[in-house]
Amino acid sequence: MISVFVNDRKIKVASNTTILSACEAAGIMVPRFCYHSGLPISGNCRMCMVEVEGKSKLIASCLTEVSDNMKIYTNTEKVKHVRSSIMELLLINHPLDCPICDQGGECDLQDQAVKYGSLNSNYKETKRAVSNKYMGSMITTHMTRCIHCSRCIRFIDDIAGTGEIIMINRGEKTEVTTLDEPIKSEISGNIIDICPVGALTATVYRFSYRPWELSYSNTIDVMDAVGSNIRVEYKENEIVRILPRPNGDINDEWIGDKTRFAFDGLSTNRLTNSYINNGTTLEVVDFERALNLIINKINTTPSKKIAAISGDMVDCESMFLLKKIMLGMGCKNFDCRQDSSLMGGSRCHYIANTSLPEMEGADLILIIACNPRFEAPMLNYRLRKAYVSNDAKIFTIGCVANLNYKTTSIGNSPGIIDSIFAGKHELFQMMKNAKKPLMIIGGGVFTRSDAKIFLFKLTKIAECTGVVKDNWNGFNVLQTAASRVGGLDIGFVPIDDGKNTDSIMNSEIETLFLLGVDEVDVSSLGSTFVIYQGSHKDNGFHRANVAIPSSVYTEKNATYVNVTGFVQHSSKIIIPPNGVLDDCEILLKIANGLLGAKLAYANVDDVREAMYNEVAWDNNANQWALAPEVTGSLNYLEPINNHNFNFCSQDPISRSSKNMLLYRNLVS
Ligand code: SF4
Ligand code: SF4
Ligand code: FES
Repeated sequence: MISVFVNDRKIKVASNTTILSACEAAGIMVPRFCYHSGLPISGNCRMCMVEVEGKSKLIASCLTEVSDNMKIYTNTEKVKHVRSSIMELLLINHPLDCPICDQGGECDLQDQAVKYGSLNSNYKETKRAVSNKYMGSMITTHMTRCIHCSRCIRFIDDIAGTGEIIMINRGEKTEVTTLDEPIKSEISGNIIDICPVGALTATVYRFSYRPWELSYSNTIDVMDAVGSNIRVEYKENEIVRILPRPNGDINDEWIGDKTRFAFDGLSTNRLTNSYINNGTTLEVVDFERALNLIINKINTTPSKKIAAISGDMVDCESMFLLKKIMLGMGCKNFDCRQDSSLMGGSRCHYIANTSLPEMEGADLILIIACNPRFEAPMLNYRLRKAYVSNDAKIFTIGCVANLNYKTTSIGNSPGIIDSIFAGKHELFQMMKNAKKPLMIIGGGVFTRSDAKIFLFKLTKIAECTGVVKDNWNGFNVLQTAASRVGGLDIGFVPIDDGKNTDSIMNSEIETLFLLGVDEVDVSSLGSTFVIYQGSHKDNGFHRANVAIPSSVYTEKNATYVNVTGFVQHSSKIIIPPNGVLDDCEILLKIANGLLGAKLAYANVDDVREAMYNEVAWDNNANQWALAPEVTGSLNYLEPINNHNFNFCSQDPISRSSKNMLLYRNLVS
């Protein structure tokens, strides 16, 4: 640590701190346009100039590191003059159409012009106009407003890795453009946030509201298993925008495009009434009638003939309560793995054991049977950082992937795993030599017929190659469903001789409870009586004999556990459609009517308390263990593949989203 003085106030900072960061540490905000804490530094706007004692010229504070006893001044006449001159320069060609500009009210240029600009300009020339550029259906450009800060270029180059935005020409003719191609990045929407002016705007939000007209609340995203922290902005009871909320442990300051754009699916195609299927017609019925039918059906079905499956966005409280109900009825057939995967066992075998920030430090990454870019964009962002900043070598096995970093594919044969397992593959030694090797294991492993043998071999490889060693656990299972880690933590998996999803779907189950389940193949169900409780008129609803509506994640306070095993909470931000209750509230009503399931919970808070007492989440207590050894060998006839995953239509919310329909042909 060294001492520096900011406007005569002494502070201690690390020696490699920039002057701008030192000023921030001293509580002084230095104006900036091109600097962004999440991007490489470019130093092209010069708005952050400060005076340093002993230097005749002003210094760009975002570029320059402090030195011991440096005396920095941020408010001298010289500094004020240069800021005002920079503002004048930036505004030469700026349209100043704030009243009709979508950025009005949240514009860095507007704010800084008011604070640092001058009332007069020396320029009388005609302003130039720049043609708008095509960046795809989700980003609308107004390039006359661009101030060439290059934030969008650096984001697309360094963070997204797709590189479609470039700067062409020089001087007065400079333009930021694409080659008339859409941006093919799954995190492209972040450039809308970081553009300091109204040059890049969100097609689906522009011209709808001014920021001061909106209310906002903080919550978490459940569109994938990362649980990005988000800020939901709404007008009355309608969500109009979702933005990232910085959290260095999870999503830094970015979000994926599905998280950002699929919000219209929260209110489209909603199931808002209860229905009974009479065989030929779907009849709208009142909630009580549907509830009584469900209670009666469960009460009159032998316990061995009842089963329950929970979907990919279901909260922990609801799974916990449904498990209690099932056990109360003497039923052991329940599963939270609607994809029929065999995930489970020790917690270290179904979570990502490396924290997301730690992943950036990896120097070798082995990706197996998944595409992290689309399955978990905010986790993939960390892998790309390891590639860019740490020169990580990245290998893939069985991934049909369009990744945004250089990878070496070593095939899709299970024989490769055996070869590494036996120490004969060159990757074995490379992993051993790596300081921080990482394994990213996708759902494609767990839906294999030999999943348990596969898992044992992978854990053994992890131990032998140093993927797991003192102070480092690089063994990571990539979950794609927001509910999966929570479901497995709660134990929403068959007990003893209970049936798992595969057996449930292919045996003579008389009454099947689908809790937010829309991705199972219902064609094998035959005459099974299907109870569907969920938020959308999606696949589960269409097969249901009785359906009851429930709320989505922005309409309830609930618990989710993310891919790294971190417990988070969603917040009730808007009111659900009339008469629609939370999953857990509905389940409580069902439990009250059941003969076998007498539970002592008066409300959702009681359920939550009981759940926390029973599950006792503690991430620090994660223990590493080898997976149980299973006899048999890997099935060489079954190539290693990604599991079924479609970024744009994986769940009922994105399938209902018109925005995602627009987005669908952008990424591939
Ligand atoms: Fe006004 Fe900012 Fe829009 Fe420029 S970008 S017109 S300064 S609101
Ligand atoms: Fe900066 Fe926006 Fe121009 Fe990109 S479009 S260079 S982010 S002002
Ligand atoms: Fe420092 Fe732009 S913020 S040069």
